[in-house]
Amino acid sequence: MQPVAERQAWSSRIVFLMAAVGAAVGLGNVWKFPYVAGVNGGGAFVLVYLLAVLLVAIPILIGETMLGRMGRRSPPETMRHLARERGRSGAWAVVGWLGMLAAYLILTYYSVIAGWTVAYVFKAGSGALDAISAEAANGLFNELLADPVQMLIWHGLFMLLTVVIVGQGLEKGIERAVKVLMPMLFVFLLIMVAYAAVNGDPGAAVAYLFDFDFSRITPQVALIAVGQAFFSISVGIGLMMIYGAYLPQDFSIARGSVFIAAADTLVALLAGLAIFPLVFANGLDPGEGPGLIFVTFPLAVGGMPASTLFGTLFFALMVFAAVTSTIAIMEPMVSWAAEKFGMGRSMAAAIAGFVAWVLGIGSILSFNAWAGFYPLDFIPVFSEATVFALVDYVTANVMMPVGALLMAVFVGWILSPAALEEELAMQHSWLFQCWLWLIRGVAPLALLLVFVVNLV
Ligand code: ALA
Repeated sequence: MQPVAERQAWSSRIVFLMAAVGAAVGLGNVWKFPYVAGVNGGGAFVLVYLLAVLLVAIPILIGETMLGRMGRRSPPETMRHLARERGRSGAWAVVGWLGMLAAYLILTYYSVIAGWTVAYVFKAGSGALDAISAEAANGLFNELLADPVQMLIWHGLFMLLTVVIVGQGLEKGIERAVKVLMPMLFVFLLIMVAYAAVNGDPGAAVAYLFDFDFSRITPQVALIAVGQAFFSISVGIGLMMIYGAYLPQDFSIARGSVFIAAADTLVALLAGLAIFPLVFANGLDPGEGPGLIFVTFPLAVGGMPASTLFGTLFFALMVFAAVTSTIAIMEPMVSWAAEKFGMGRSMAAAIAGFVAWVLGIGSILSFNAWAGFYPLDFIPVFSEATVFALVDYVTANVMMPVGALLMAVFVGWILSPAALEEELAMQHSWLFQCWLWLIRGVAPLALLLVFVVNLV
């Protein structure tokens, strides 16, 4: 079995950073963050989210990327290898398995939502969004949701795009795409924020996003905020482990991780500032749910001059942001198949993509034929949760935090501090001590606390 990282590596640091930011920035920021913040009470959620990013997600992101570079294998093999090297049980591989499984489950529904963005590229291109009203925007979106066949086709197209890029490998596929399109997405979001500030109700949006009402911080809100931080930054699912495996030894993982998390958080907040002014100005419901951006963004671009062009460009960039995430989400699985069975990347990506496409049908039907089907209704926390809601909840709020917790324990308590210090080679010893304190104590305790208070 040849470790995958012996076959490929990032061609430069900047490319790694762009790919990692590309993996982090995606539907999680632009689609999920605003609606999850909306459903969970705005400012209170945002506050816990920011704390979770700073105290839990960043320290574990550093640890996870570092594990990848130390192991230089697919996530399960990295964990097994590092544990065995230290005389520990190979069962630590389960952390890699859990991550890979979570990533794969995410892929199944993520591609469905990304399929909506593909659909909107065409809707915008046909002029359907020009000068659209809030009511018509709602109608257009509901029409899409009511049509499972159409959704299956868009989901399939998007999955195909992911498969083709992943099949090409790092250099030709992932690197080439991220260099141009990530900065474009960022600039575009800034334009949207400016538009929303002028044409919407920015005061109401800022109050909503940053008015920290502590009484709204419930255990459930805390868990969802932690889950969202992990989901958005892509922590705890082996994705950054495999991206780390392709890193050169002299890359500063700590600095890179802070950059990735900061860029990701900035994009999420910008997305919030682009959406909520329009939500409030148009009397839309901030707690509307997964459809939030598909109703508000058409309103925004539809009102702009050259709306057909703007709308098409915006949704095309969303597709792109989504695909730089799905290629990363698929990478742990593909690297594992390549390593374990010597399978070619294209073949591994095609099989993984096809199965995920079929599994995605459960999520598609959750918005129409199965909208009233709640498989785990008898468990209070899952009452009235569709298949889509279940997969989303379990991956983000259970599997990712559990995977991250185990990674924190492994890094903090199994690896020796001296080895960690050498591997991370941080500029100042006090910075390293701070990180060590966070990954050994604060992060795992915070995660445990959030779990326990949710269980009792
Ligand atoms: N981190 C990816 C996103 O935010 C999954 O979309």
